[in-house]
Amino acid sequence: MSGLAAAAPAAETTEREAAAMAALEALAGFAASPVLLARLRRAASLVEACDLDHPDVEEPHWAALLDAVTVQETRLYRHPAQCAGVAALLPGRLAAARAEGRKLRILSAGCATGEEAFTLAAMALSATRAVPGAGIEVLGLDLCRPALASAEAGVIHLGMGDPLALVPAADRPWFQDASQNLRLHPSLRRVLQFSRANLLGWSETGFDVVFCRNVLIYLTADARAEVLRRLVASLAPGGILALGPTDRGSPELFPAGEALWTAHE
Ligand SMILES: C[S@@+](CC[C@H](N)C(=O)[O-])C[C@H]1O[C@@H](n2cnc3c(N)ncnc32)[C@H](O)[C@@H]1O
Repeated sequence: MSGLAAAAPAAETTEREAAAMAALEALAGFAASPVLLARLRRAASLVEACDLDHPDVEEPHWAALLDAVTVQETRLYRHPAQCAGVAALLPGRLAAARAEGRKLRILSAGCATGEEAFTLAAMALSATRAVPGAGIEVLGLDLCRPALASAEAGVIHLGMGDPLALVPAADRPWFQDASQNLRLHPSLRRVLQFSRANLLGWSETGFDVVFCRNVLIYLTADARAEVLRRLVASLAPGGILALGPTDRGSPELFPAGEALWTAHE
C-alpha cells in the first residue's frame, strides 16, 4: 500500500478549533491555515484552557497559546541581498541622526529569537566605523515569550546548517569569539532591547529603519494592512521599511512588489 493511501484523512476542524482560530485572528491577526490548525492541535490542552469569548494577549492561557502557535524560523543575515542594500544606506542615516544629536533607531518587528535584531545591530555598529560618535539602538518586538527570552539572553540558534553561513566575513567577529565559538559580542548586547508586543495594537514613532520580514505572511489581508499602516506611521522622516520577499504588502505602498520602502522626508 502506498504511503498516500495509508495516510489517515485529516480530521475535520472542530467547532472549538474554528472558534480558537477566529479568536486568534481577532487577537493577533493570524490567518486560518493548515499550519495554524496543526499547531492548535498540538496545543489542544491550551485551547481547552482558553476562554474563547475573551481573547487577551496578557491572560496566561492565551499567552501560552500564542507561544505555542507562532512560527519562529529565522537566521542571521536572512535575505542577504536586502541586508546588504540596507547596510549601504546606514552610514548616511547614521550621519543624519548624529547631526540631529540623537541615536539611530532601528526596529525588528516580529523578531522571533532575535537573529534579525542581532543582524541589524551588527550592520549598524559596523557602519558607525565610518561615522564616529554616532549612536544606535535596536528594538526587537514579538509576541512569543520563549523566543524573546532567548533573544534577551543573546543566544544564536544553531538551526539548520552553519548559523554564520550568510554572515559576511567582515561581520563575523560580532558573532564569534577568537576561538571561533558562537557568541554575541558585548557591544551588540549593549544596543539591543527586546519587548513583548502585539503588532496589531502596537504604536510608537521615530524609527529610522524598520524590518518586518516573514511576519505578514501569517496574517489576514486586513491584519496585514493594519500592521503595515502602523509600521509606516512608526517611521521617522526618511525612514526605511523592509519587508520579506514573501510578505505581501499593500499595492499602494509596493506597486511593483518591491520589499523596501522609504518614508517621504
Ligand atoms: C517566522 S518569524 C520571522 C522572524 C524574523 N523577522 C525573520 O524574518 O527571520 C515570525 C515572527 O513573527 C511573530 N509574530 C507574528 N504575528 C505577530 C504579532 N501580531 N505581533 C507580534 N509578533 C508577531 C511570531 O511570534 C514570530 O516570532
